[in-house]
Amino acid sequence: MDLVSNDALFQEALTHFPGGVSSPVRAFRAVGGTPKFFRKASGAWFEDEDGRRFLDLCMSWGPLILGHARPEILAAVTESMNEGLTFGAPSRRELALARKIKTMVPFIEKMRFVSSGTEAVMSALRAARGFTGRDRILKFEGCYHGHSDGLLVKAGSGLVTFGAPTSAGVPKGIAELTSVVTLDDLDTLERTFSEMGSELAAAIIEPIPANNGLLLQRPEFLQRLRELTAKHGVVLIFDEVISGFRVAPGGAAERLGITPDLATYGKIIGGGMPVGLYGGRRDIMGVVAPDGPVYQAGTLSGNPVAMAAGLATLEQLTPAFYADLEAKAAAWAAAFATIPGLHCPRYGSLLWPLFQDGVRRSDAVKGEAIGSFNRLHKALLDQGVYLPPSGYEVAFLSGAHGEAELAHFKRAVAAAAPAFA
Ligand SMILES: Cc1ncc(COP(=O)(O)O)c(C=O)c1O
Repeated sequence: MDLVSNDALFQEALTHFPGGVSSPVRAFRAVGGTPKFFRKASGAWFEDEDGRRFLDLCMSWGPLILGHARPEILAAVTESMNEGLTFGAPSRRELALARKIKTMVPFIEKMRFVSSGTEAVMSALRAARGFTGRDRILKFEGCYHGHSDGLLVKAGSGLVTFGAPTSAGVPKGIAELTSVVTLDDLDTLERTFSEMGSELAAAIIEPIPANNGLLLQRPEFLQRLRELTAKHGVVLIFDEVISGFRVAPGGAAERLGITPDLATYGKIIGGGMPVGLYGGRRDIMGVVAPDGPVYQAGTLSGNPVAMAAGLATLEQLTPAFYADLEAKAAAWAAAFATIPGLHCPRYGSLLWPLFQDGVRRSDAVKGEAIGSFNRLHKALLDQGVYLPPSGYEVAFLSGAHGEAELAHFKRAVAAAAPAFA
């Protein structure tokens, strides 16, 4: 294939797509410059359309825990593709993946496959509402749960808040059904449950919040959320679209020792193909159609090729794999932290390069810290390292980030660091 310049492709893309992209953060508006068009990728590396190679620390935002184009996954996908791309009917590959998921996440008694994280969350909330007969939901400022109407919501004014839309096009009436509490704010959490606990269908949280940087919570905050939801009959949903199968076989729930009622997954369970999943308690999942009255469906749900990619991925995720990834990630975080002023909060293989320390809530992130990240993004890109194009995003490591990659990264960091002294 001939090389077409990155810039020329982006100019054309601007004529086709809003911002030239299929998803906003890819547009590089936060960090400036022209987005990289990926031509091909393998392991921890990709080549752009200008023919330059980059070390990838974004990894498609999380699915690629084994790296790009892992041979075992490609083989499984090829075998599945040769038997048909989609059936719109049950197939044995859904069962194989479901069995594997149950061995890794024991609290999942029943589940439903969908095609994205957004869809998983939207469907889990509907199930919770159907199960409890209540309409209101609770979310936490700084957690992202996909782009469905009721979740593009921030805290409104007032003591115990009714949400206000964060996006045009979200009806006020829908946003108001979402209450929003700040992370790490136990007092407001207590007050919210005492004032409206009996109205809440569900409380949803990223147990390892990783969409506004990495806002690691005190264990007692999450533990108290578990107690309050149980006390008030509120369905606790862990959104593990990022943390699921990444921070441990059983995700954040396993590492924190807290069992939610439902959980949502995406990313890794599709091994790079579009998949989402919601599941958990058998009685709650029992409300989902056709067993129960909560409608939810999908033409491509349980797609056999995606199931094959997901299963081939999960099969590689042994305890030894996680132990190795953890050790590697500590070395990468230490390398990041050699940049003057940079701290690198980390949880498993999720890293947040941040020019600030000790942040647990979204409103604590300083503008200057993000400004410094934007400079770092450009400096590292010049050195052949691709960070997620926003200071509010975490970097993702994979099994393919080995010694050679770490050496390349350290060289890039050493070249970029003096500008931050
Ligand atoms: C925690 C969380 N939930 C939900 C979503 C939405 O998933 P998707 O982009 O597949 O719709 C994301 C996406 O990044 C996420 O990080």
